[in-house]
Amino acid sequence: MVGGLPGSQAARPPRPPGRGPPGSQAAGLTPARHNGPMAPGPICVVTGASSGIGEATARRLAREPGARLVLVARREERLAELARTLGCPTTWVAVDLTDDDGPQRVLEHVEAHHGSLDLLVNNAGSAWRATFAQGGWENVRRTMELNFDSVVRLSEALLPLLRSSAPSAVVNVPAPPDGSPEGAPAPIRPASPP
Ligand SMILES: NC(=O)c1ccc[n+]([C@@H]2O[C@H](COP(=O)([O-])OP(=O)(O)OC[C@H]3O[C@@H](n4cnc5c(N)ncnc54)[C@H](OP(=O)(O)O)[C@@H]3O)[C@@H](O)[C@H]2O)c1
Repeated sequence: MVGGLPGSQAARPPRPPGRGPPGSQAAGLTPARHNGPMAPGPICVVTGASSGIGEATARRLAREPGARLVLVARREERLAELARTLGCPTTWVAVDLTDDDGPQRVLEHVEAHHGSLDLLVNNAGSAWRATFAQGGWENVRRTMELNFDSVVRLSEALLPLLRSSAPSAVVNVPAPPDGSPEGAPAPIRPASPP
């Protein structure tokens, strides 16, 4: 167990995962591969689960006894494929978190399929690397829209569920300061002429 993972030992009645509406392209469900009854474990939302750190996080959380996962990203086929390999009850919702209704769609999915939430991992993000002279305001805008605004908006949307499941947790995966894989702080240089 990941030390003190919320919901892992909560004495709650099991909540059977539901199924998405017929024909839904934006929500999916894979059945548990476990045999026999299992104590309820944490229900976890992982954003940006279609690749990289989010996918690795989902694979790790899936090893928690009784864990149930909700995978979030835009590429549905990758979420569906990951869900098939996790071996725990997993649903997914294909959504662009920067859309106006993105966070609300995640909330509605969690309510419909799981009914509660123990852990939110805000991992979805991106780094569009460019100097300000190259990327300008548009680069700042789209970076903040995904890496900051969507994190705050999704956290706000899911907060009532998280509070109802307290002790619950929100984990935010920050972007490196300069967008580099190493996360090294970018040196601040005065603007130089082209
Ligand atoms: N890589 C590093 O060394 C490093 C270091 C420190 C911090 N980080 C941070 O860690 C997080 C994950 O990084 P990573 O390296 O794993 O990157 P990645 O492989 O590119 O994963 C980014 C994830 O975010 C999702 N995503 C992007 N835009 C989205 C949107 N509008 N709506 C919903 N989901 C969206 C992507 O899925 P879809 O394309 O399917 O939507 C993907 O699953 C980022 O926030 C990054 O800033 C990374």
